[in-house]
This record gives sequence, structure tokens and C-alpha cells, in this order.
Amino acid sequence: MVTMQIFCEKDYDAMSRRAAQIIAAEIVHAPGCVLGLATGSTPEGAYKYLVDWCKAGLLSFRDVRSVNLDEYKGLAPDHDQSYRYFMQRNLFAHVDIRPENTRVPDGLAADPDRECAEYDAYIQSLGYVDLQLLGIGRNGHIGFNEPGDCFIRETHVVDLAESTIEANSRFFASPDDVPKQAISMGIGAIMGAKRILLAASGADKADAIYKTVCGPITPRCPGSILQLHPNVVLVADEAALSKVNAAS
Ligand code: F6R
Repeated sequence: MVTMQIFCEKDYDAMSRRAAQIIAAEIVHAPGCVLGLATGSTPEGAYKYLVDWCKAGLLSFRDVRSVNLDEYKGLAPDHDQSYRYFMQRNLFAHVDIRPENTRVPDGLAADPDRECAEYDAYIQSLGYVDLQLLGIGRNGHIGFNEPGDCFIRETHVVDLAESTIEANSRFFASPDDVPKQAISMGIGAIMGAKRILLAASGADKADAIYKTVCGPITPRCPGSILQLHPNVVLVADEAALSKVNAAS
């Protein structure tokens, strides 16, 4: 049964604008809110809208706290493919968020297990996330919770799936340069968010979105766990929603 609120937008730009409106509304409603943030192609357009509205004086990130979903293991914050660098380039450097209020897992942590435990403790200390932005992998991953035999509750070090390495190789000189591991927020922190905003664009996400919304709840498609969350809004373009729309 479909219980998610679904916005079907015409194209990537309309999807981005709608996602940005939902994030902006959260900030206006609760200026000190905790945002869970994602990287990748999907949220870039939404971040552009948020930057524009901030520059126009319509929005302020002054009291916002943020936690990111994931980071490649082994990449320094100033590596141009690290997710910390992505966040600086696409959002943080252009809005009035306080740097000390932003957190991305440390891909260079000497003790990654400790970094994971501290990341979860930090999210807990914030009272969990108010609005969690998610993209979705073609294989149904959320954060870097890859398809597997079970859902992993805690922030953890993950071996990236071959399909993820291949999908993300578009950002690197060659697939060999894509890190093979990442640190990812676990399903516990994602599902602990008070509200989840799942964004998707393009026909190559149609299958993952169909399985997430209409399929069985299974760790083989990690996004499907979102069916158990009471407050999920899915913002997607027509191409990403084509299989859901065809079935309903
Ligand atoms: C990124 C993340 C990933 C991406 C997913 C989709 O922080 O956690 O789950 O959201 O891989 O990536 P794009 O948007 O590049 O298609």
C-alpha cells in the first residue's frame, strides 16, 4: 500500500524546485532545525535554489545544523570528489551556515569504527534529524546502505557495490579511481529522522523508485524500508515515477 506523499514533477528543474521548497519551509518553520543532507547529481539543483533564495535574503541557514549521509573512505575533505568538498562547493560556501554546525563523516579517520560510533552519538546528541534529504541509487541504496542480507542500523564502513562504483565513475578519471569503501549513516539514523524527503530524477531511477514505493520491504532494496516511516515525501520527475504511475 502506498502511504508516501508523492509529488510528480515534470522534469529535473521542477523536481529540484519542489525539493528546495520543502527544505526551505522546514528552515522557516524551525530555524534551528537539523537537516540530513545528501550529495550526488540529484540534490544539486535543489541546493542551487536554496543558495539563490539565501542570497536574495529569503532564507537563512544561520542556526541550521546539518549532518551528511556519507563520505568516501580515504578521500581528504579538500579532494575534489569528496562529499565534504561537494557540500562546500554546492551549498555551504554560499549560504550563512556556520561551519561548526556542519558535519560530514571523516573519510580519513585513523579509527573508522570510532568515527562511525561518534557520528551516531553526534546525531543522537542533536535529537536526531528533523528533515532527511535522500537520493536513491539505481540499485535502491539510500545513503550508501547497499543491497544485502540485512539492514544495518548504525553508521558503518561499507564496501561499495560494483554498480555504485560504476555509476559514480562518471565523476572520476577512471573506475579504478573510485574509492571502494565509504562511511555511511545507517538505516537507524535515517529512519530516526522526523521527516524524510526522497528525491529522484530520470528513467534510470524508475525501477529503484518502483521497488521502494511498491515492492516488498527487503534489504535487497534498502529504499523499501521507507515504507515503514510515517512521514516520507517523495519528490520525483515523471521519468523516475514512470513505473509507479504505470502501476497505479
Ligand atoms: C549521496 C548518497 C547516495 C546518492 C545516490 C544517488 O550522499 O547518499 O545515496 O543519493 O547514489 O546519486 P545521484 O543523485 O548522483 O544519482
